[in-house]
Amino acid sequence: MTIRIAPSVLSTDLGRLREQVAEAEAGGADWLHVDVMDGNFVPNISFGAPMIRALKKISALPLDVHLMVQRPEQYIAEYAALGASVFSFHPEATIHVQRQLAAVREHGMKAGLVLNPGTPLSLLEEVVDDVDLVLLMTVNPGFGGQGYLPASSRKLERICALLASYGRHPVVEVDGGITTDTIATAYRAGADTFVAGTAVFGQPDIADAVRALRRAALPRA
Ligand code: DX5
Ligand code: ZN
Repeated sequence: MTIRIAPSVLSTDLGRLREQVAEAEAGGADWLHVDVMDGNFVPNISFGAPMIRALKKISALPLDVHLMVQRPEQYIAEYAALGASVFSFHPEATIHVQRQLAAVREHGMKAGLVLNPGTPLSLLEEVVDDVDLVLLMTVNPGFGGQGYLPASSRKLERICALLASYGRHPVVEVDGGITTDTIATAYRAGADTFVAGTAVFGQPDIADAVRALRRAALPRA
């Protein structure tokens, strides 16, 4: 099975964005993960459209945009026009979740539903036909550099069982605390796409860090 590594640009040194993204690409990164935070849905402010615009200029990798903002629907048309590939949002941040998932698809992006550690899975069941991607937070969102919550693995297994029971196979992505020590656990529990901030851009050799994650995820032959 092929996996995707999606380095999170939240952990880049913004003054060296171009070269650090190029290093991640050289290491075989599949997507670039873009963490948009509004200081309201989460207690931290990061970046938004200007970062998407900048990344589009310096990289051909698909942009995997994760909105940690209230009322994410405000940004669907804008981010689609800027060329985002994935648009993932938290159901707690909007009132009409199904409507917004459909709008994301109508704008030609993959529709992603993000589940916080404390978000019940029953919500996913209601919109299972409307999602192209499920993003399980394996930390509470807001900051890079936190530890993988051990309860995440069981939750991942439950997500995969639920999806299988509906015959659905969206992308299953994990985000938070993914390192060479935790990635295999998440892979075994059913994830196929792995966000990593600190474990990529916090390392001295960024290209090698991407390769090391991929190696650590896949079971030895
Ligand atoms: C957390 C963000 C993550 C973050 C991951 O709120 O959604 O994408 O950048 O960083 P690490 O890999 O350092 O936990
Ligand atoms: Zn994220």
